[in-house]
Amino acid sequence: MIVGAQWGDEGKGKVTDLLAEQADAVIRFQGGNNAGHTIVRGTEEWKLHLVPSGILYPRKLCVIGNGVVLDPRVLIEEIDHLRARRVDVGSLKISANAHLIMPYHLLLDSAGEARLGKLQIGTTRRGIGPCYADKAARLGIRVQDLLDETILKKKITAALEPKRLSLRPFAKDPSLDLHAMTEEYVTYGHRLEQHIADTARTAWELLDQGRTVLFEGAQGAMLDIDHGTYPFVTSSNPVAGAACVGAGVGPRDIDEVWGVSKAYTTRVGAGPFPTEIHDELGDVLRQRGGEFGTTTGRARRVGWLDLVALRYAARLNTLTALTVTKLDVLSGLETIDVCVRYRGAEDAQFDHFPYHQSVLHHAVGETERLPGWEEDIGECRREADLPPAARDYLRFVAEFTGVPIALIGVGPGRDQVIWTEHGQRSRLGASPGAAGTERMPARPSGRAAA
Ligand code: GDP
Ligand code: IMO
Ligand code: MG
Repeated sequence: MIVGAQWGDEGKGKVTDLLAEQADAVIRFQGGNNAGHTIVRGTEEWKLHLVPSGILYPRKLCVIGNGVVLDPRVLIEEIDHLRARRVDVGSLKISANAHLIMPYHLLLDSAGEARLGKLQIGTTRRGIGPCYADKAARLGIRVQDLLDETILKKKITAALEPKRLSLRPFAKDPSLDLHAMTEEYVTYGHRLEQHIADTARTAWELLDQGRTVLFEGAQGAMLDIDHGTYPFVTSSNPVAGAACVGAGVGPRDIDEVWGVSKAYTTRVGAGPFPTEIHDELGDVLRQRGGEFGTTTGRARRVGWLDLVALRYAARLNTLTALTVTKLDVLSGLETIDVCVRYRGAEDAQFDHFPYHQSVLHHAVGETERLPGWEEDIGECRREADLPPAARDYLRFVAEFTGVPIALIGVGPGRDQVIWTEHGQRSRLGASPGAAGTERMPARPSGRAAA
């Protein structure tokens, strides 16, 4: 399983694409098109929002699980875009139980943010929160409902009823016309029908045959609705535990959980960010790291690596390995700060991620200063190629979090990675030719791994 270990945008798309080569299927299990996952192959760049990041391999089974909230208009656009670039999407499967983002969810998302004014969350305004709210209220419309016009219309009527008041300002919005909406969604149903399936069963069949299933998370632990910086979070659970619910498998089906973290930290939208850099260095890192949202184009807030939060994410997800991306962005800095504890109001110190929002909102990261390195590391392919200071930096991260590093990103390109010894050992079906590579022993059937 691959999960974000920070506030999203850690590079999950790239890591998923890399690992998918050896997997039999890739399953997205939560979130929606608030996600933006980037894959760079040669001179080509792909930005995926709903389609799993395994789609660039011909005939690789790619599943949108039941835990995803799906905007069918966006999915169809994404499919068309992929097709236009000659990507085969025939092996894309969509869970019949996934919930649909409806036009009123988009309106409610924007209206909710407008109402919050200065207190707004900074959502992606893609209707994610209102859709999950309807799911919990048992007023959701599911993918399977697209296949029956009568049921669809009844469900939309029921879903709209309790929203009358909040939707009143949009009364004249053409997208809210019941008949037009039903017709529009029936058309989406025709387009997507060939992809709709009982995807939990598909996952069981693969796992029971001992095949390899890769679970692709969206967002990150600190945006988790239960464990993140609530209310400045998304409306789903991006932590590893949610993959079981969102794909329909059990905890014993999972045997590797890899957390993706940048070598520094970014966050989009509002909310506490204890290691945020407020001076020009923040702008330098933002430019160098291209830290602008994949989905909304917003400038990402930038900060030092927050090891208090990362250790918290490691425990929440029971991470078996870390992937540290964008190490190249830190090249050329004389020194690099890493946050090892928080200091709160009245000089209180915290070694652990504080559960109380008032504490967290006042928390400032206390940093340790480590030496930087001058060299451009974009061409490094082995740990030994890295400057000693970069290796020391990574060692510090692994020791502090207690999680071994499997993979290091030294550039956006697919080949711009370094597999550590640990990574080579736990990488599935690692090519026998690669230096220091061992094949994983045959696994008992019915297990998943990254
Ligand atoms: P995701 O949402 O976790 O999939 O991440 P995004 O795609 O939103 O953002 C990650 C960005 O970093 C993308 O533009 C990637 O191409 C880029 N990226 C990934 N790994 C690296 C790396 O090791 N170095 C650099 N410089 N860029 C990277
Ligand atoms: P990936 O998968 C970074 C953030 C939004 C906002 C908050 C709530 O690309 O890592 P929402 O629209 O979900 O209700 O917004 O969550 N957010 C993300 N930030 N990466 C993402 O996805 C995000 N998805 C949502 O910016 O602060
Ligand atoms: Mg992203």
